[in-house]
Amino acid sequence: MREIPRDILIEVMEDVIEDLHGHVHRVSDLSVDLGTGVGLGGDDLDRLALAGILHDVGKIHLDPGILGKPGPLNEEEFELMRRHPEMGFAMTRNRLEPKVAEAILYHHERYDGGGYPFGLEADNIPILSRIVLVADAFDAMTSVRAYQPALPVEYAVSEIRTNAGTQFDPTVVDIFLELSSVDRLPLELIA
Ligand SMILES: [Fe+2]
Repeated sequence: MREIPRDILIEVMEDVIEDLHGHVHRVSDLSVDLGTGVGLGGDDLDRLALAGILHDVGKIHLDPGILGKPGPLNEEEFELMRRHPEMGFAMTRNRLEPKVAEAILYHHERYDGGGYPFGLEADNIPILSRIVLVADAFDAMTSVRAYQPALPVEYAVSEIRTNAGTQFDPTVVDIFLELSSVDRLPLELIA
């Protein structure tokens, strides 16, 4: 595991956003492994480690009633939720390297252009964001959330495989499937 500056912000963020306990570290670790697989250099791997930790930091602006809601969000709540990448970018753009802040800004863009906030497509989405998206999706599915129990690893892997080229960058998915085939995916330890 790469060295990550574990400052007070991370602990505060984990406290405020209940679902994120442990999540951010698994997303960070998996993002670095995926980045290594696609051939990124050390500086980008350091950026990925940090972007993995901070990708959802903008959620600390959201109402706890939205964050902890057990059922689906209504339209108004969903609109507020969709603003978290921009909020995270606003919080980090003057504190971190542009590439890290941009990785946060674009981490919900989809490869087919159907994501948010801008609907960027394919290579127009920074590679760091395309990687965080895959790592985030895997961990969101396989960990316990307010709105769902943890889903089986096999299900999560097959969802990511199915959505290569639509939601996810196929190159990143190829590396993800390689990691999965050798049991290299980080998993939440569920008691
Ligand atoms: Fe997010």
